[in-house]
Amino acid sequence: MRNKTACAHQDLLNQLNEKISVSEKISFLHRVLRQKCSFVDRIGVAVYDPRCDILKTFAHSTEGGNPLGHYQCKLRDAGSLYQTYLDGKPRVINDLAVFDQSHSEHAKKIKAHGYRASYTVPMYQNQQLAGFVFFNSQRPGVFTEAMLPYLDMIARLVSLLVSFELKQVQTLQGALRTAICFSGHKDPETGGHLERMARFSRLIANDIARDNGLDDEFVESIFWFAPMHDIGKIAIPDEILRKPGKLTPDEFEIMKTHATKGRQMIEAMLGNFGLNGAGFVSVVCHIAEHHHENFDGSGYPRGLAGAAIPIEARIIAVADVFDALTSKRPYKEAWSNDAAFETLRDMSRWKLDRQCVDILISHRREIEEIQCVFRDEEEGHLTTEEPTAFGFSSLFHFPAADLAACVL
Ligand code: C2E
Ligand code: SIN
Ligand code: SIN
Ligand code: FE
Ligand code: FE
Repeated sequence: MRNKTACAHQDLLNQLNEKISVSEKISFLHRVLRQKCSFVDRIGVAVYDPRCDILKTFAHSTEGGNPLGHYQCKLRDAGSLYQTYLDGKPRVINDLAVFDQSHSEHAKKIKAHGYRASYTVPMYQNQQLAGFVFFNSQRPGVFTEAMLPYLDMIARLVSLLVSFELKQVQTLQGALRTAICFSGHKDPETGGHLERMARFSRLIANDIARDNGLDDEFVESIFWFAPMHDIGKIAIPDEILRKPGKLTPDEFEIMKTHATKGRQMIEAMLGNFGLNGAGFVSVVCHIAEHHHENFDGSGYPRGLAGAAIPIEARIIAVADVFDALTSKRPYKEAWSNDAAFETLRDMSRWKLDRQCVDILISHRREIEEIQCVFRDEEEGHLTTEEPTAFGFSSLFHFPAADLAACVL
């Protein structure tokens, strides 16, 4: 008899401590939520990139198939969701028939999947919009006043899970940024390069993930860690890094060590911050180490070929080379997009992953927009045009891709 109730008790959420994806953690919360609100058929999370005004699906727990994976849109174009952002308050829709007039693709998909009601809660980090938590139900009219406080609590837990993940990413980015500052290092690669190539990488990763059954968290981790691909250049002497002309073979041998050194630095940081168990460890390590491997095995540091090169590294390589070609470097002028596309096509015969190249080239409009938002001025200073409709101040930093600020 002793302790019978205590023994019978099971902590339904204890799995939240395990090293599993955010989507899996959300599905534990979902299971608990359904004991009280059995009508909630889906919890979805989208994260927001304010620099480009992009809202991107991130994680979910769904009964039945996922209606909204690998999806991104401009918040400004997201209709009533944009209004929810402006209001800064949760949004209840008890009959999704209101979406019949909506032009937004995500509203149509949610409706087409048979959802009839939704409850949407904005997520914030440092007083800035970080994304949204969506609850959907197949039954209309279920999100009643009495249910909302309970759903708010779950939304808050989901939001904490997501910000915990983002915080780990910020920790790592902050550490690397500090290392760059303290080393007094001046990389001729600009902050604009990192901002742009992170977003080119996300464009490619999104389509690769959609076509290969990889999840949205994978796409987002590529976006977060793409700016760290050349962190190992901290260890390369300035006279090589900033050399205005062509490198000698000996100098290039030294240059090549930036890939292995980058991985070692990242591993040291992960250890120092106790992040070895984080879900994104392999992605960030592969990006640093393998972004100069070539498809035919002629690259460095390991000479990996084809599918043996981690897909995240193949994606980064295409984004990096494209931006290197279209940017000015101490050793070269900037090329036009068309000339760069042609060279990428050439390189897809031996060096770059052809699928990744084709995807990038197919997104010309998005590429031009990214180039317009993250332009380099003379002397490599970055200018960004903040989305004017929002009046974001430049003080605002989304955790991703701001590694560059110190390099300038
Ligand atoms: P990076 O400037 O970021 O260039 C990244 C990659 O873009 C290069 O990797 C290469 O694959 C491609 N790329 C960049 N510019 C050109 C170009 O003008 N033509 C062609 N065909 N490809 C280009 P890679 O070659 O392994 O070089 C790694 C890094 O080594 C470069 O990073 C850069 O920091 C340095 N580097 C390479 N070549 C030279 C050079 O001739 N002079 C100097 N100063 N640095 C160089
Ligand atoms: C929308 O908010 O426009 C649809 C997204 C959702 O409710 O999941
Ligand atoms: C998603 O994460 O939104 C879709 C991929 C999955 O099923 O996890
Ligand atoms: Fe590199
Ligand atoms: Fe680069």
